[in-house]
Amino acid sequence: MSNFNEERVLSVHHWTDSLFSFRTTRDPSFRFRNGEFTMIGLKAEGKPLLRAYSVVSANYEDELEFFSIKVPNGPLTSKLQHLKVGDPIVVSRKATGTLVLDNLMPGRHLYLLGTGTGLAPFLAIIKDPETYERFEKVVLVHGCRQVQELAYGETITETLPNHELIGDMVRDQLVYYPTVTREPFRNRGRITDLMTSGKLFSDIGLPMMTKEDDRFMLCGSPDMIRDTRDLLSGAGYVEGNHGEAGHYVIEKAFVEK
Ligand code: A2P
Repeated sequence: MSNFNEERVLSVHHWTDSLFSFRTTRDPSFRFRNGEFTMIGLKAEGKPLLRAYSVVSANYEDELEFFSIKVPNGPLTSKLQHLKVGDPIVVSRKATGTLVLDNLMPGRHLYLLGTGTGLAPFLAIIKDPETYERFEKVVLVHGCRQVQELAYGETITETLPNHELIGDMVRDQLVYYPTVTREPFRNRGRITDLMTSGKLFSDIGLPMMTKEDDRFMLCGSPDMIRDTRDLLSGAGYVEGNHGEAGHYVIEKAFVEK
């Protein structure tokens, strides 16, 4: 049996010249945990052209959703960005990844820190009822250079609070904190600076971070991951993985080279 399912594109949404999302059919046998990624791609001549993509849709949804950048000469994304409804797409039968709730020790506040398309796995995590059962507050921080790159803002602030399964929990427990670095916006600055200065915590009305109460998931640019990891490990926070739960977990955003 093949390791891949062939799915069909159901819709495509272009956020900006360089960011887009698309939804596909989902083979009912494809199982994943919220926060995981899988390999997706297109059938080229010979073997398929594949890249890792975090799954944006929650694991209880009937469709799959993915969030992608468009790399002008990227082997896959230069083709993917032209996807049309009905087009075939190859999706691995397996999913994996470290950004799963089980890799974190119990805590009170879950901080989901993402830059750019690093937001993707957190969209599945904020749709998971278990996230709200495990944490009192869930803080989604999305850092981008420009306001127009803050994709999914309306989904987070309008759609999810009215969601039939998780709406009540989202309204009570989810805090959305978009921040922009290169143009005016209500929240400005890099995630690392906002943590170090304490501005993030005071803006959302939560106490300064502590090892006892706070847990972190990081996904985004390698530089952001490196600096945030240094900040956390320097303060004594321990990285978690499949072997052992920790105070924080990380995953690079899968940017095509
Ligand atoms: P900045 O504009 O100050 O570089 P990119 O588009 O390069 O992936 O960046 C996405 C966001 O991540 C931008 O807001 C960028 O801020 C921020 N960023 C880049 N490097 C770091 C870092 N080392 N620590 C924190 N944030 C970063």
